[in-house]
Parts: sequence; C-alpha cells; structure tokens
Amino acid sequence: VSARDLGVAVVGAEGRLGRFACALIEAQPGLRLVARLGRGAEVGPRARAAGATLAFEATRAGSGYANARALLAHGVRPLVATSGVTDAELAALDGQARELGLGGLVVPNFSLGILLLQRAAEAIARHVPAVEILELHHERKHDAPSGTARASAARLEALRPGPVPIHSVRLPGLYAHQAWLFGAAGETLTLRHDMHGPEAFGPGILAGLAYLPRALGVARGLEHALDLG
Ligand SMILES: NC(=O)c1ccc[n+]([C@@H]2O[C@H](COP(=O)([O-])OP(=O)(O)OC[C@H]3O[C@@H](n4cnc5c(N)ncnc54)[C@H](OP(=O)(O)O)[C@@H]3O)[C@@H](O)[C@H]2O)c1
Repeated sequence: VSARDLGVAVVGAEGRLGRFACALIEAQPGLRLVARLGRGAEVGPRARAAGATLAFEATRAGSGYANARALLAHGVRPLVATSGVTDAELAALDGQARELGLGGLVVPNFSLGILLLQRAAEAIARHVPAVEILELHHERKHDAPSGTARASAARLEALRPGPVPIHSVRLPGLYAHQAWLFGAAGETLTLRHDMHGPEAFGPGILAGLAYLPRALGVARGLEHALDLG
C-alpha cells in the first residue's frame, strides 16, 4: 500500500456483493480500502473522512441514488452497483457531478460476458429479428424476469420491431444463465452465457473503479469504462 493509492469506500460492505468487492479492492495494487460502510452510516461524510476519493455502492434496490448523491456532495466519485437507479435519477446525478467537476458510473451488470452477449445479440438481431430470451436463475432470486434480461430486451426492441419475449426459470442448482434464441426459416442460432459465481464481476468492478478518476458526469453501463473498439 502506498500513499499514492486511491482510497476506496465500500457502501453495503457486509452484503454479498460488498464483501466480494472489499476482498477484490484489498488485493488490487493501486487501490486502498479505507472504509466499510453499512446501513445508517452517513456515507458521504464517513467516506470523505476516511480519505476515500472513490466509492463502490452495493446496497438495496432504490438506495443507490441517495447514496451516490451523498457521496458526490462530499467529493467522492461513486460506482453504483445497486439496481433500480431510474433515468430521472441518473440525469440528476449527472447534473450534480458535472456541476462539481466530478464523475461516477452506474453499472447494472458487471459481467463482461453479459456485455459481450448483448453486443453480439444486437449485431445478430439486425439480420435475424425473431428472438426470444430464456433467463435461468437460482431459486432464491424472486424477481422475474431479471433486470438484465429486461434491459437486454429493451435494447433489442429499439433495433427491431415488436416485443422480445422473456422466459424465466427459477431452480436450485442454477446460478445466473441466459440463452438467446434467434430463429429464421430452416435455422436457429443460440447465444448462451453462464455465470457460476461473483468472480465474474471482478474485472468489470476493477474497470469501473479505474474509469472513475477520469469520468466527468454520471453515465450508465459498463461499456463507458471499457474500450470495446
Ligand atoms: N451491478 C451488478 O453487477 C450487481 C451484481 C449483484 C448484485 N447487484 C445489486 O447490488 C445490490 C446489493 O446486492 P447484494 O446481493 O450484495 O445484497 P445484500 O447481500 O442484501 O447486501 C446489501 C447490503 O447493503 C446494506 N444496506 C441496505 N441498505 C443500505 C443503505 N441504505 N445504506 C448502506 N447499506 C445498506 C445491507 O444491510 P442490511 O443487511 O442491514 O439490510 C446489506 O449489508 C442489489 O441491489 C443487487 O441487485 C448488482
């Protein structure tokens, strides 16, 4: 750990994703975990007082906006993992950050595989418009369809006419899986992504944290942190 390392606060540090992020940050040269914050903490002042310039926020759906606002107000750049940040909230965070000369990023899914799957699906959908999404998750995931499947379908619906049907499966033994089935006369094409554990989020979280110091404003999507060519 050197004095030049970037200080990172984790908000929601006792949660599943927060614990994973803490271990990831502690093991990453150039980053220093300076605060593990939980519910009830004054996240902005606490992160600032601990010396954080960056924060990883993974709490409860709907809390991402308030936490990101408080962090920005105290000069800390947020990487928001929490689901449920609306477009209006994103616009408000973007305006706040630009006024302060700061940046942040909202990332609904840190998996590089999912991002590449979406990119490939968008390229295929231009030529094969008939597509349905099958999303399969462990039985403890209560929301269906998943936010990732809904967002992916919305991206495809902007490219081709008609709704994209989503089918959800919840079973023990599964983790997080998606299959996209494209159909045309006499042939089908299937894209499939299988996630087996939170390690899949590691490279995306590190790319997001590396992007924050140069970010101006707050955007949505891991692609902003990556050079996808
Ligand atoms: N972007 C992605 O790739 C990705 C991946 C996985 C999950 N997520 C999202 O990340 C969020 C966290 O997921 P998780 O599985 O880690 O959930 P979790 O295990 O329930 O952890 C959430 C943690 O945040 C704490 N918390 C709740 N509200 C808070 C607040 N207002 N301020 C500070 N801390 C608060 C909780 O404390 P209590 O136990 O006291 O409630 C808990 O320790 C969810 O919204 C989930 O959908 C995103």
